[in-house]
Amino acid sequence: MKKKVLITGGAGFIGSHTYINLVSAGYTAVILDNLSNSNPCILDRLESITNTKPELIIGNINDAALLEETFSKHNFSAVIHFAGLKAVGESVEKPLDYYNNNISGTLCLLSAMQKAKVKTLIFSSSATVYGNAESSPLKENHPRSATSPYGRSKLIVENILEDLSFSDPTWNIACLRYFNPVGAHPSGLIGEDPKGTPNNLMPYIAQVAVGRRSSLSVFGGDYNTPDGTCRRDYIHVVDLAEGHVAALNYYNSNSGLITVNLGTGSGVSVLQVIEKFEEASGVKINYSITSRRSGDVAECWADPTLAKQRLGWVARRSIEDMCKDTWNWQSKNPTGLSDQQ
Ligand code: WQD
Repeated sequence: MKKKVLITGGAGFIGSHTYINLVSAGYTAVILDNLSNSNPCILDRLESITNTKPELIIGNINDAALLEETFSKHNFSAVIHFAGLKAVGESVEKPLDYYNNNISGTLCLLSAMQKAKVKTLIFSSSATVYGNAESSPLKENHPRSATSPYGRSKLIVENILEDLSFSDPTWNIACLRYFNPVGAHPSGLIGEDPKGTPNNLMPYIAQVAVGRRSSLSVFGGDYNTPDGTCRRDYIHVVDLAEGHVAALNYYNSNSGLITVNLGTGSGVSVLQVIEKFEEASGVKINYSITSRRSGDVAECWADPTLAKQRLGWVARRSIEDMCKDTWNWQSKNPTGLSDQQ
């Protein structure tokens, strides 16, 4: 009997890529998603890649009745929890939306899991819990702080999970702190497809390259870094998906709470990403250096040692792979999936 996993937010960027790796690892999966930042035709793309079409339950993690019905209908062995709002800037304008979705929604999910005696959770956390870290690389024991309601919501959920684990050590909980997820499945059938104007660098560059946007603003060229632009730990979304399967497999022979960074361990600057993307796409990226974006730190990248030690996981794909796969997806889907049924 195949193990069945619930993927909340599974129609989204990281969730859809994780679905593919779960299927190839022998799991079956059900997706719960409110489609606020994803498109239902992703299911057809997933079927094309995996020859299995995931069951999609359209709804919110705050819907206790829907969750109870879902857990009574399916015998889940675990939950991978991606569902949540994740735009830093937006969270400053709409904190209650972020606390309702990300915190109350997670509490609702945990209650449904407890009631159904499903006690293995892989939680989508973020490097944003490290706040304005002074230096990189960052280890998991680096002090945490919040610089936005989004970051605070992730930090509060991590604290909730720590308290839950302490109260009942039979819970298996993996907090995975992502750094900067980018890239796309090598088929080019799925990729990052944000609704509206992209907040993040890579999808914005991709939309400039494909002609949807005229020019990129580089937020600051006067940081204390080799080329003056910020450095980040960009990680290929397929490496990230592999990390989630590794975390699930970890609980085949372990228990309890683990918190690990999922990153490459190296920092790449904005100008370097532009250069690599131009090499991958053959397209010149128009850009201008503008003022800094508030809240940005100069440098942020992972120390991924613990993920290798505990999960046996290492990021394997390069920034060149990330740019090549992003361009392959974007050039095949110039307007994303938004206008496709
Ligand atoms: C990367 C670099 C920008 C856009 C955010 C969240 C984090 C996580 C990943 C959820 C920065 C620069 C960007 C642009 C630019 N999300 N940039 N022009 O800010 O490192 O992390 O996304 O978990 O929580 O904070 O990623 O891609 O927005 O920015 O110059 O149009 O690119 O200043 O230096 P960030 P990003």
